[in-house]
Amino acid sequence: MLWGSKVVPRAIESGDFERLREFQNDLEIEVPRGGEPHRLRSRTEIASYFEPLNEIGSAFNFATAPKDNLETAIGHCGLFNLSNSSRTAELGITFGDRSCWGRGYGRDSVGVLVDYAFRIHNLRKITLWVHSDNERARRSYEAAGFEQEAIGKDHMWSSGGYADLVAMS
Ligand SMILES: CC(C)(COP(=O)(O)OP(=O)(O)OC[C@H]1O[C@@H](n2cnc3c(N)ncnc32)[C@H](O)[C@@H]1OP(=O)(O)O)[C@@H](O)C(=O)NCCC(=O)NCCS
Repeated sequence: MLWGSKVVPRAIESGDFERLREFQNDLEIEVPRGGEPHRLRSRTEIASYFEPLNEIGSAFNFATAPKDNLETAIGHCGLFNLSNSSRTAELGITFGDRSCWGRGYGRDSVGVLVDYAFRIHNLRKITLWVHSDNERARRSYEAAGFEQEAIGKDHMWSSGGYADLVAMS
């Protein structure tokens, strides 16, 4: 188990798929995450999205649970696009449960993932991409020690316009 001071990234269980489906089908949560334009996903798609990634080792996906209630997934997080040659990976976190925002869970889970990446997997650089308007996320990542490295101008289509994406590492 990977213990943070507030949250625990743990293995995704089949009982988490319904919660993860709710989170991923929520526009308010998915749009600020950046990435490909949102589309609705079924429970089956959610299951088939997470399982093969873990198997082939190109990603490590976790459900995030509060430390005092390990059964309940409040979000998900992980490392993806792992490169064995460059020893790099990208990091992503999101909390679907709004009551968890702004309580330090974000920086805590980033800290746990970075430690897992560096100490357990001997990676050397972790990058994340964040929507430039996502102030809460940027502040959380800065609190976890990430710094802005580059800006992708008009990098993504987001809710009716092109938006900048910020790379932090
Ligand atoms: C972004 C997210 C992962 C951050 O996790 P978190 O636990 O909420 O973040 P933290 O508590 O570690 O830090 C939040 C910071 O934003 C600040 N903040 C809180 N609400 C804010 C708001 N509405 N606007 C701007 N900043 C805000 C907090 O004060 C804190 O900054 P500080 O330490 O400088 O005071 C989480 O809010 C989330 O999942 N949001 C929805 C989806 C999303 O945006 N995912 C990220 C994709 S890159």
